[in-house]
Amino acid sequence: MPLIDGQGRKHDYLRISVTDRCNLRCIYCMGEEGIEQITHENILSYEEILKVVRAGAELGISKIRVTGGEPLVRKGVVDLIGSITAIPGINDLAMTTNGILLDKYAAKLKQAGLKRVNISLDSMQPEKFNKITRCGKLEQALSGINTAIEFNLHPVKLNVVLMKGINDDEILDFLELARSKPLHVRFIEYMPIGDHDCGYRDHYLPLTYIEEIAAKAGLPLTPVPLPGGAGPAESYTIPGGQGTIGLIHPISKHFCDTCNRLRLTAEGNLKACLYWQDEKSVKPFIDDHKALKKLIQEVLNNKPVEHQMGCDGKCGSLKPGSMRSMSKTGG
Ligand code: 5AD
Ligand code: SF4
Repeated sequence: MPLIDGQGRKHDYLRISVTDRCNLRCIYCMGEEGIEQITHENILSYEEILKVVRAGAELGISKIRVTGGEPLVRKGVVDLIGSITAIPGINDLAMTTNGILLDKYAAKLKQAGLKRVNISLDSMQPEKFNKITRCGKLEQALSGINTAIEFNLHPVKLNVVLMKGINDDEILDFLELARSKPLHVRFIEYMPIGDHDCGYRDHYLPLTYIEEIAAKAGLPLTPVPLPGGAGPAESYTIPGGQGTIGLIHPISKHFCDTCNRLRLTAEGNLKACLYWQDEKSVKPFIDDHKALKKLIQEVLNNKPVEHQMGCDGKCGSLKPGSMRSMSKTGG
């Protein structure tokens, strides 16, 4: 029996944030001072996370993504990957990371059963990368990306948040990267998420801009189905490309009608939609397998039809938007 939400959408995908902590401070994700961190006692233990995954797998969850914050800063995450791999019914296991620690962990992750990674990379210019992440070293991220390719964490996808006036001058460089390397370069629209002044108003740019720039440069984007599933990304090839391009536009063309995902936050709240405030803690039910399964279904029964991100409050929002930053929700 598939897992169906209140709108009839099939759900098979659980995204797990294992920590809200991060070794970077990306400007679109958190304020300069970082975020108020969840204390160690309040964070869901790996054993508890596995209980949720087992319950989900019995209900029809087959795909898991481990995210953060930065998942690789939490101790023991390789063992968690190994334990998730062993759960019957889970056949796709991916991670979203900023890549900084991939040199150290890629081999171990692959061995533990991780299939693939998505890596954030918003600039290929060292100074700008450092500004966007407020502390990151580009060379470490690039090295992590190469290591992911080397260990066949394939398809290696890059997440590029398009920011007007910040990295919109690098679009052709990113297209070139997808041409010269086996990378799936995904441009993402800037989302107004979190309680910090995230710069959305100043820096949001719809992704139609990418298509314009590509066409002007004589690099027409040709739609293509991506093997292994591209999620909400529309995928394209470019002439002579080893890799592909993806466009994810949560704002200008949202994909709520095909949403198949459920999220588990680092402190153990199930969240059916990235943007709504509604969330339910798994903690009271964690030792009761049946109740946990019931909770998952209940959360999905109440999943909203769609988010109203970017509507500027003019669209008569039915529910209050989420104030959680991505690092607390899981990107
Ligand atoms: N807008 C768009 N994408 C975001 N991410 C985090 N915050 C935002 C935002 N405000 C995405 C980035 C990062 C992933 C973890 O989450 O692409 O790679
Ligand atoms: Fe860290 Fe990812 Fe947020 Fe950047 S976007 S600060 S890498 S959690």
